[in-house]
Amino acid sequence: MNLLLFGPPGAGKGTQSQFLVERHKMRHLSTGDLFRAAVKVGTPLGQEAQGYMDRGELVPDRVVIGMVREELLQLPQEQGFILDGFPRTVAQAEALDQLLAELKKGIEACVFLQVPHGDLVSRLAGRRVCTGCGAVYHVASKPSAKEGVCDLCGGEVVQRPDDKEEVISTRLATYEKSTQPLKEFYAARNLLAEVDGLGDAEEVLKRIESSLKLA
Ligand code: AP5
Ligand code: MG
Ligand code: ZN
Repeated sequence: MNLLLFGPPGAGKGTQSQFLVERHKMRHLSTGDLFRAAVKVGTPLGQEAQGYMDRGELVPDRVVIGMVREELLQLPQEQGFILDGFPRTVAQAEALDQLLAELKKGIEACVFLQVPHGDLVSRLAGRRVCTGCGAVYHVASKPSAKEGVCDLCGGEVVQRPDDKEEVISTRLATYEKSTQPLKEFYAARNLLAEVDGLGDAEEVLKRIESSLKLA
């Protein structure tokens, strides 16, 4: 199965992708994670993306589309995937359609995680991530056993640079302006599955699975 996982910053896209990957053997393709990896290594792609990310703005469509194209080209034909954080603009969605047609692949559903604004802000402001393995924590709802240290790999657990309060508000505004319109785009194709993203993360997973008839 090929899925788009879509929703505002902090909606739980990364968290739910992790569950889906473990339970359904799908490949997780997160454009945000790919950019952060490129920034860490200092590739030209990372250098181009970093300023936009630090300001909470979108990386230009041309750059994102080229990167996703490379990733999808490398997937074995039968490998199911989750696209987390792509597409984020109508131009990206149209480019994805073309790319999928070219690769003879399709999308079964576009899952939209619905979470109220106030909860998004507290999720993002409290999020901490491991610089070693990428594990995601939250200071209140999912703290690491020892502050600043990853339970899984012992790596350093820090705040993402774009999880500072002033950047969070730009990210949420960018989402509303550029990405929200995609809901209509996928609803018009009968692919939109709206899921309540509030409550325990495992509850949310159950809702996604039942809406996709995966359970
Ligand atoms: P990206 O990394 O995709 O960031 P985002 O969309 O802002 O989403 P997040 O990763 O912040 O949130 P999430 O939904 O994954 O939530 P998570 O599961 O971590 O993109 C970063 C930047 O890259 C963009 O700003 C842009 O610059 C660039 N970029 C990326 N893709 C692009 C594109 N296509 N085009 C252009 N530019 C692009 O959860 C958040 C927190 O909440 C965690 O602490 C978690 O523990 C907690 N949590 C999760 N679920 C629950 C729950 N059910 N209850 C309580 N807490 C929960
Ligand atoms: Mg994420
Ligand atoms: Zn770790």
